[in-house]
Amino acid sequence: MTHWLVTGGAGFIGSNFVRASVGHRCQRLVNVDKLTYAACTATVDELAGLPGYALVQADIQQRDVLLQSLREHQITTVVNFAAESHVDRSIEEPDAFVRTNVLGTQALLDACLAYWRELPEEQAKQFRVLHVSTDEVYGSLGAEGAFTETSPFQPNSPYAASKAASDHMARAYFHTYGLPVMVSHCSNNYGPYQFPEKLIPLMILKAWRGDALPIYGDGLQVRDWLHVDDHVEALWRMLEAAQPGSEYVIGGNCERTNRQVVEAICSDLDQRSPLQRDGQTIARADLMQRVTDRPGHDRRYAIDASRLRDELGWQPQRQFETGLAQTIDWYLSAQEWIAAAQGGGYAGQRLGVERSA
Ligand SMILES: NC(=O)c1ccc[n+]([C@@H]2O[C@H](COP(=O)([O-])OP(=O)(O)OC[C@H]3O[C@@H](n4cnc5c(N)ncnc54)[C@H](O)[C@@H]3O)[C@@H](O)[C@H]2O)c1
Repeated sequence: MTHWLVTGGAGFIGSNFVRASVGHRCQRLVNVDKLTYAACTATVDELAGLPGYALVQADIQQRDVLLQSLREHQITTVVNFAAESHVDRSIEEPDAFVRTNVLGTQALLDACLAYWRELPEEQAKQFRVLHVSTDEVYGSLGAEGAFTETSPFQPNSPYAASKAASDHMARAYFHTYGLPVMVSHCSNNYGPYQFPEKLIPLMILKAWRGDALPIYGDGLQVRDWLHVDDHVEALWRMLEAAQPGSEYVIGGNCERTNRQVVEAICSDLDQRSPLQRDGQTIARADLMQRVTDRPGHDRRYAIDASRLRDELGWQPQRQFETGLAQTIDWYLSAQEWIAAAQGGGYAGQRLGVERSA
């Protein structure tokens, strides 16, 4: 029996995971999502038609609701994507990040523990909880080196700090209670269905329209980019083969500065449709404008995913340039989805320069 409970399955990575899993990897999938601004109605509506799929609109802080869903659907596997996920928003409103990412994860772990303890021995042995986290918990790297599973936690943003706290809680539930929890730490994802406040979709939409392209500071911050489908496949491998209590870092071996990513988007769009202004063709890269840097902006992330490769046989399959072009295709053809995503009130404005209150 493969009955999965996924939290945050109406967001970017969660919805890609749900779409690829239902009917292929699991017989039933229950998506517990609070449906915050980051969960687009168009995504939710599209998922509703999947066979064996059910949505429970709830906050992961609602332990009793979670426990009821676990029991009712006889869940065998839990994957936790639910989170407040945007660093800029965490600078403005850290409280929401503590509530969902820390208290919510703890409530979810607690519901899983109560449920797991009720299971017959054989089912309890098979039960797994996968907590999805980020490489941002490790802080910032210098020019050399890469994060591994043994890198020390040094979170620098309220987002990263809240994720680090939730990771510690996941670890503690394994070591203290024996709950079969695994934790993943992935690098920056890109692909379809990402809310257009994050770098890649935001820049695609602005550059396509010919708007100014805000570059935080010098734009030389380095991120390791991974296509969301590669991330989904890594999580599947962990569900299939990782040991309870294990942790894996996941990365694309694809370091790019933010400036390089924006330049790649501009050059792709220029080839599709040159931008005309007053009878002149303008290179979209000229729309880049340096703006005040993000407070506490991490300089460089990189991942050494050799443990995942050696122990579980996972490697990224998608090239950044191809994946980026496909992502651009998707955003240019997803006008309805974009309108629904922006219907919640976010229209590309700068967030997170400082705390508002
Ligand atoms: N996006 C990335 O590049 C990236 C990289 C590594 C790890 N991660 C992690 O992956 C997970 C998913 O990230 P994402 O980019 O898809 O995020 P997202 O913001 O696109 O989606 C988050 C989802 O969680 C839901 N949610 C938020 N608060 C909730 C709550 N209290 N209860 C229930 N549901 C709630 C939202 O409605 C939304 O559907 C997060 O845990 C994030 O930390 C993301």
